[in-house]
Amino acid sequence: MLIAQISDLHVRPAGQLAYGVSETNPFLERAVHALLRLDPAPDCVLVTGDITDCGLAEEYAIAAALLARLPCPVYCIPGNHDRREPFRAAFAPAGYLPAAGALNYVVDRGRVRIVALDSLVPGESGGALSPATLAFLRAALDDAPDRPTLVMLHHPPFETGIAHMDRVTLTAGRDGLEAIVSAHPQVERVLCGHVHRSIQTRFAGTIAQSAPSVAHQVAFDLRADGASCFVLEPPAFLVHRLGEAGVVTHEVEVDRAPGPFPFVLPADYPGRR
Ligand SMILES: [Fe+2]
Repeated sequence: MLIAQISDLHVRPAGQLAYGVSETNPFLERAVHALLRLDPAPDCVLVTGDITDCGLAEEYAIAAALLARLPCPVYCIPGNHDRREPFRAAFAPAGYLPAAGALNYVVDRGRVRIVALDSLVPGESGGALSPATLAFLRAALDDAPDRPTLVMLHHPPFETGIAHMDRVTLTAGRDGLEAIVSAHPQVERVLCGHVHRSIQTRFAGTIAQSAPSVAHQVAFDLRADGASCFVLEPPAFLVHRLGEAGVVTHEVEVDRAPGPFPFVLPADYPGRR
């Protein structure tokens, strides 16, 4: 089973650029094409927040239309750039979102359970997991202890070393998340977005990781006084493969690279054995 994860789409109204630079709508279109090229195809696609840049209904309409090109289920969670009610209105037809309150939900795909958590705090860049959301997580994990489980939330529960991002991270509920995940060894991953970079770390006895953005990336800058900047490094996404031995995660670039070239050596290849 393959589960793709894209993140931080930051869709804008038609013709507008994010921060005056990033062509996020064409970026998403390229990501959708890349997902459609995957062979074998993913069973579903997770979208770990910042679907839109400003939470506008117009932005959600564009995002939903582009994501609707994917033939598999697509499961979205909100990020700090999203707004809860326009988000809910845009994706309610897919049927996985609750009708009211926090946008927490559970879906089962084959053997895998996906637990989606809403860390959005309106008006804030940082995020939080409320006591109710943590209780939702605990119940979802208690309910299916034998299912390999992916927990997803927008804000990473770990320090990245990118100082300006670490100042707008998960501000409440981190310890509760750690305690709950630690008590449930079926959690294969805690999947996040927000940082616009591919980052992995040990967390609560499992692996927590953030996905790169399919649009602009946060600049790699580990200086304590590093400025808040983005770069147009090649966009990418993650593909989580569930095999017999667990989950293995690949990072895949959105755009095609030259190749593939076969590993064939001609008879006169220097150094050939
Ligand atoms: Fe973002």
